[in-house]
Amino acid sequence: MTTPLRLVAVGVSLAAAACAGSETPREERLDPARPAGFPEMAIPEENLLTEARFELGRHIFYDERLSANESQSCASCHKQELAFTDGEARPVGSTGEELPRNAQPLANVGYLPVFTWANPILRSLEEQARVPIFGDFPIELGATGNEEVILARFRGDLRYQGLFREAYPEDDDPITFLRIVEALASFERMLVSGDSPFDRYVQGLDDDALSPSAKRGVELFNSERCECYHCHEGFNFTTAVRTANGESSRTSFVNTGLYNIDGDGAYPDPNTGLFDLTDEPTDMGKFRVPTLRNVEVTAPYMHDGSITTLEDVIDHYAAGGRTIEGERAGEGSSNPYKDALVRGFDITAEEKADLIAFLKSLTDTTFLHDPRFASPFGRGTDARRSGDGR
Ligand code: HEC
Ligand code: HEC
Repeated sequence: MTTPLRLVAVGVSLAAAACAGSETPREERLDPARPAGFPEMAIPEENLLTEARFELGRHIFYDERLSANESQSCASCHKQELAFTDGEARPVGSTGEELPRNAQPLANVGYLPVFTWANPILRSLEEQARVPIFGDFPIELGATGNEEVILARFRGDLRYQGLFREAYPEDDDPITFLRIVEALASFERMLVSGDSPFDRYVQGLDDDALSPSAKRGVELFNSERCECYHCHEGFNFTTAVRTANGESSRTSFVNTGLYNIDGDGAYPDPNTGLFDLTDEPTDMGKFRVPTLRNVEVTAPYMHDGSITTLEDVIDHYAAGGRTIEGERAGEGSSNPYKDALVRGFDITAEEKADLIAFLKSLTDTTFLHDPRFASPFGRGTDARRSGDGR
């Protein structure tokens, strides 16, 4: 646990005490689900979680009117049945620009200390939500310059008038982008996934939840031969974790030897990892360790979606880094910035199947189909038309 975070947390709560938002009555507060073994989530004092905020955020998350040309919502790239990924290597934004990186899953996103694949300064869900809404490089929802048009859509919709009022009763005019990003963050904090066969097995609820093969896979995952558990550690299978008690002090960004295009460790532009922001040579190719929850449905894999199957992911680790021929050629295993824990190992075909059986046991079908997290507009329903109906 690091001291700086505690200091920040104290500063935040002092500031919040002075503003109206902190007067939210306690009984209205909503707590994210807390499966056995999950720590308490850090919820910012200045954006307390309530049922009304969650419900507002859920509506906005699924509403294409949030994009300037009304063609995309958050859910266009974050689909519930794919653990809120989109099945593409790299998604395309609302105006047709391709994004450089793979859409990330949103399960347990409320437990992350930093957001996106390689950005150490994007530290809250509220800040993160501004990126797809306002970002220009590349354009995702394209709100910049269209703010008033977008807000007018919500202001003119009876359903939203009620939703915003209930979520922020103390506001004279709650229909603002500040409240939009706060509500989105409230929705996202509720997206807890911890009811997979693996969870049911480790919680002692069902000894048969894991097949013998998956049980052998758990052993391999936690073995000194494979080393997976060092980076994909703990309840969310990543070193990147923040809880109500602070955050992990372990490095969350590592280079796994996916590329080595110049023989000196370079990753292809613009996906150079932390290096892109820090210019620190040793940060080349460092990406945040992803969760492995629901990994069966989040293909394709890695920051750029450049690995298609779990079999190929394991081959990459077994080789101690990926070797590519042709375009982007290079021997990732000799990348000088590669983490020492990615050193390669021998694995039989049967063991590979075991490891994959374990990874697939992290699929939480309850989460993937939970109606609480689904579109409130119903399948194929146009949010615009359902707006003033009920
Ligand atoms: C056009 C596709 C697209 C749209 C639309 C989109 N996202 Fe994303 N999302 C992505 C991609 C790609 C990433 C990874 C970004 C990166 O690493 O730079 C991402 C990352 C995230 C993350 C970070 C997850 C993590 O593990 O750190 C969150 C949270 C998120 N998106 C929420 C949202 C919300 C909320 C909206 C709507 C306001 C939204 N996204 C709209 C594609 C999209
Ligand atoms: C040194 C830390 C480290 C070790 C050891 C490690 N991983 Fe990873 N893992 C990462 C990072 C970082 C990424 C993302 C890399 C990137 O996109 O460039 C990743 C990505 C993955 C992905 C893709 C997830 C996604 O959503 O795209 C899977 C699956 C995976 N690892 C499984 C494993 C398995 C299985 C092992 C053991 C054989 C293992 N990892 C060992 C750090 C590690």
